[in-house]
Amino acid sequence: HISTAEMEQRVAALKEKFGKRLLIPGHHYQKDEVIQFADITGDSLQLAQQSALNTEAEYIVFCGVHFMAETADMLTSKGQTVILPDMRAGCSMADMANIMQTERAWQELQTLFGDTILPLTYVNSTAEIKAFVGRNGGATVTSSNASKIVDWALKQKQRILFLPDQHLGRNTAYDLGVPLEQMAVWDPHENRLLTDQEPETIKVILWKGHCSVHEKFTVENVLRQRDLDPEVRIIVHPECAHEVVQLADCAGSTKFIIETIRNVAPGTKWAVGTEMNLVQRIIREHPEQHIVSLNPDMCPCLTMNRIDLPHLLWSLESIDQGEPAGIVKVSAHIQREAVMALDKMLHIV
Ligand code: 13P
Ligand code: SF4
Repeated sequence: HISTAEMEQRVAALKEKFGKRLLIPGHHYQKDEVIQFADITGDSLQLAQQSALNTEAEYIVFCGVHFMAETADMLTSKGQTVILPDMRAGCSMADMANIMQTERAWQELQTLFGDTILPLTYVNSTAEIKAFVGRNGGATVTSSNASKIVDWALKQKQRILFLPDQHLGRNTAYDLGVPLEQMAVWDPHENRLLTDQEPETIKVILWKGHCSVHEKFTVENVLRQRDLDPEVRIIVHPECAHEVVQLADCAGSTKFIIETIRNVAPGTKWAVGTEMNLVQRIIREHPEQHIVSLNPDMCPCLTMNRIDLPHLLWSLESIDQGEPAGIVKVSAHIQREAVMALDKMLHIV
């Protein structure tokens, strides 16, 4: 058993020893005990881009979840080794679309719509799903560029299939002027559209997936906060349900949430609807504001939280011992097609 202080010392010493050979990206949802050692922090898009730009690092120890490490691996081109400190750090939303269900859905959708449909996938998806989207001409999206990419996609084809987060898809398309009646949910278990409407009228097909953290922010939470204090401003992540986003004052990526609160005059009141580690960090970093979690119970992302100080230390030590553990490596044929979807996104934004 070693103390926290000793673990921190060892991580710091190893970082010092590796120098520029090591890069530690940390997603905003990571614990403070991990984020204190991050070389770069950011939302999903920033982390993917910055990891790719860093050509000096031999090892990228990615403090985030599996799909982010996969994305970093696919975007790096100088043979960097990407490591996830705990392989169990997945994402329940990414797990809601597997490739078999997706291929099966695509076949059915081709029968219904022919060549009038373009697939898009939120980056919160496996490399295999990104490859599916890439080989069918579509692009990836993140919460910070969803609007631009969905807008682009709706100009390419009559309709889109949006994987795997129905909420980000619905919120984005709605903001672009697509009425709810022109959207329908695809149920991957029943392999069918959940609608009574004429398929012809559907413009946006939303995969029936969601984030288990953001579904915990409810309309009741919003009404309660407004009831407690009518002056409170509500800011949420667009992975929240449509009704919640509509009632909120604003919605955006983790970067957007951080920057919005950073840039307002002191003394404003906020209720924030996103993952707990980030909400607590914003509260601590902004004593000049009055900030609470939109859901008073606080909502952790259990898989993000699997990356902790002991796992970070363990993975750095494995590199030091010459046997790096937790390497995330996407196979070449999946990478080739997935990068087509990622590149398309990066060229549109
Ligand atoms: P962003 O940081 O891109 O907003 O994503 C949030 C998220 O849920 C990552 O899993
Ligand atoms: Fe996945 Fe939601 Fe956790 Fe993000 S917050 S990693 S979408 S489960």
